[in-house]
Amino acid sequence: MSATSPAYSIRTPRLLLRCCEPSDAAPRLEAVTSSGAHLHEFFPPQPEGPPPLALHVAQLRKMRGGFDLDQDRPYVVVELHTGRFLGEVGLLTRAGLGAREVGYWLRRDAIGQGLATEMTAAVIRTAFELDKVSRVDLTCDPANAASAAVARRLGFTLEGRLRERQLAPHHVRGDILCFSLLASEYPHGPAHAVPIEAFDYLGQRIL
Ligand SMILES: CC(C)(COP(=O)(O)OP(=O)(O)OC[C@H]1O[C@@H](n2cnc3c(N)ncnc32)[C@H](O)[C@@H]1OP(=O)(O)O)[C@@H](O)C(=O)NCCC(=O)NCCS
Repeated sequence: MSATSPAYSIRTPRLLLRCCEPSDAAPRLEAVTSSGAHLHEFFPPQPEGPPPLALHVAQLRKMRGGFDLDQDRPYVVVELHTGRFLGEVGLLTRAGLGAREVGYWLRRDAIGQGLATEMTAAVIRTAFELDKVSRVDLTCDPANAASAAVARRLGFTLEGRLRERQLAPHHVRGDILCFSLLASEYPHGPAHAVPIEAFDYLGQRIL
């Protein structure tokens, strides 16, 4: 059985994860712009496209709509005490029934502090404890050592290297590593040990 409301916000020791809003567009743009090439794979420069702020508003409106419709669940991640925009983490439904895939990014000046591990653990906890999924997947480019390290730090197992995959329109087709964490493994692993508080759409504590 799954929870009646998804977690609309989650607190960790250092972070606040909250359901995104179109009004996050300006700080999101600043985080992406100031990160330069670090985020080019996630946010490829589009010199011919719409103005960058309009692009972020459009993406956030779509993300927010999907969240409220119980599709993908993208969170913006801000510093707990200052509200500074740091990045995003999300639970995606493309992993299939009873499963979620986790995805994430951090602004360049926030890496190397364990924040990606902390925010990823937080959404994994909600996936297993509120949504009662059987597995969480984590995929990454074989060259993305930083992302594979997050998977390993959180106790994921490498299932294999999938060939010539393209999971999203902005990705380049190529091989990907697929890691997974099973519900039976989760209670004994590092993600379970990360303290969180999760709240529903009314701000009531659900975890
Ligand atoms: C992938 C990504 C989020 C990983 O970020 P990261 O900062 O390397 O990961 P973490 O936040 O977990 O930090 C881990 C590092 O912090 C260090 N650290 C410092 N304090 C720490 C703490 N309190 N707890 C845990 N680790 C800590 C660790 O030792 C580790 O250092 P190392 O990189 O020298 O081994 C980041 O590189 C990124 O945004 N990349 C671009 C987008 C992307 O590729 N997304 C994933 C697509 S699949």
